[in-house]
Amino acid sequence: MSNIITVIGAGTMGSGIAQVALEAGFQVNLIDTKEELVQRGAGNIRRFLSRKVTKGKLTQDTYDDILSRFAGMTDIGAAKGSIMVVEAVFEKIELKHEIFEKLDTLCATDVILASNTSTLSITEIAKATKNPQRVIGTHYFSPVPVMKLVEVIRGKETSDPITEKTADICAKFGKTPIIVKDIPGFIVNRFLCLLYNEAANMIDRGIASPQDIDAALKLGCNWPMGVCEIMDLAGVDVCGLAMEAMYNMTGEERYNPSPLFGKMMSENSLGRKTGKGFYPYES
Ligand SMILES: NC(=O)c1ccc[n+]([C@@H]2O[C@H](COP(=O)([O-])OP(=O)(O)OC[C@H]3O[C@@H](n4cnc5c(N)ncnc54)[C@H](O)[C@@H]3O)[C@@H](O)[C@H]2O)c1
Repeated sequence: MSNIITVIGAGTMGSGIAQVALEAGFQVNLIDTKEELVQRGAGNIRRFLSRKVTKGKLTQDTYDDILSRFAGMTDIGAAKGSIMVVEAVFEKIELKHEIFEKLDTLCATDVILASNTSTLSITEIAKATKNPQRVIGTHYFSPVPVMKLVEVIRGKETSDPITEKTADICAKFGKTPIIVKDIPGFIVNRFLCLLYNEAANMIDRGIASPQDIDAALKLGCNWPMGVCEIMDLAGVDVCGLAMEAMYNMTGEERYNPSPLFGKMMSENSLGRKTGKGFYPYES
């Protein structure tokens, strides 16, 4: 049986997924549209692993072995012969359809075709293929090498064997898979969006400050981070757009984005990446 995992999209998530697959002993192809983007992804992996060597968590021999199993390229044809392909390109349904249609003709029908989408329906993505039974969602969390959870999302037609094989591979990556239905937001984002919105509405209405909300969650609920700190880390724009997507998909008033998201986005207060969000940051 093949030992090759192909990851399409060498961005934040794709390079993280490639790294955990490499560390689990798989042969990994990382594909992006341009050589420099492939190299950027490869650089992220090398940096992360080098830090482990410096800290004594990885030997130089293991580091060399891991990188000997890595290949970066721009040709999607390299996905042929993989045991699983994980798509981690931009969150656009047309782009995902284009990629899944190509993969469906390239890969044998028992090859797992997984999407790392955070908001799109797996059933909808699978419509671009003639073999929807092997299309599945694997929703990793950022930073992938650190976060333990993977939401494994079954589309309407995803088969039992593909679901089992996918969960098994995610476990080999050192993750804890949970099987989730193909509903808007899956499980994690359904909860997170409600919390984001409640916090933003409380701040917008002058009921509580970001500092008080975060102190309440950290000291009263034992959360390691406050919800405003999480939004600043993820990006206020990313959270605002996720809210909008959830509202459009569900039509439920509880997901109607707080006006604060629009205000902060127009002021470029996007969190850590712009130096200000719910909190100010040094450069
Ligand atoms: N960033 C997060 O925290 C996070 C968390 C969970 C899920 N996701 C999902 O993961 C996916 C990727 O997100 P990201 O944050 O890594 O994005 P990103 O922008 O960092 O990376 C996307 C990469 O895909 C590449 N790409 C675009 N079209 C391509 C094509 N046709 N072929 C090959 N590569 C192509 C881009 O060049 C880019 O390098 C999205 O669906 C996103 O919703 C993101």
